[in-house]
Amino acid sequence: MNVDVFLTGSHVTEEDVEGRTVVVIDVLRASSTIITALANGARAVIPVADMDQAGKIAMNLDPSTYLLGGERDGDRIDGYHLGNSPLEYTPDVVHDKTIILNTSNGTRALWNAREARHLIVGGFLNADRVVQFIREAGLDLTIICAGNHDRVTLDDTLCAGLILHRLWNGQEPEQVSDAAHIALTQYLHDRDALAEALRQSNHARWLTAKGYGADVEYCLQLDILPVLPYYQENRLVRWSGRLAESSS
Ligand code: MLT
Repeated sequence: MNVDVFLTGSHVTEEDVEGRTVVVIDVLRASSTIITALANGARAVIPVADMDQAGKIAMNLDPSTYLLGGERDGDRIDGYHLGNSPLEYTPDVVHDKTIILNTSNGTRALWNAREARHLIVGGFLNADRVVQFIREAGLDLTIICAGNHDRVTLDDTLCAGLILHRLWNGQEPEQVSDAAHIALTQYLHDRDALAEALRQSNHARWLTAKGYGADVEYCLQLDILPVLPYYQENRLVRWSGRLAESSS
């Protein structure tokens, strides 16, 4: 299996993802919000690239069926129902709703990768489920770390490293891409004090300073939600576990 890693998400092209399994990672916080929303009974999450797209999609939906969620500068967008805090996406709020999600980096990275053969969302919350799917699919793999406005983020890189470590059963193959090697090496460096390393990351400290420290602690939890967000027909739905049908 050929494995490629992008340490930031903005320059991914259609050719980079075609025919591959693609995992988009935005630990803080878009991935964690999407995983949580679907775990808590949301019907679907529609990731969008910008305000315009969010507005157009909302206009064509029955207002009782959807919620607009998202952030700019970490805070809820004016006029939206929800921000980008996974803790807001509780079962009573999201049950049976379609969430239109608009975030600064994570949903844009998803939008850029939409032509992948299999497009899934990963974070610490569902890392185990992600590795299971990658193995099942058996295709070449691209991991896209959303990063932050074209900058590498430690949280996404460490999550990519964790996924690779598990996928490779702890043995780095002889020839890997530089970015895959960097992600794995960073993970090996930090894994014994992973939560602490993550708390010290730029984005975690920034969110904590803005009052979102509880989100950071939540997003750092490992394997607590065995839920796989899977992209089909312009939306992410909870993967049902039937690969053969969707591959045909
Ligand atoms: C993003 O998409 O850039 C993030 O999820 C930002 C955030 O922490 O809300």
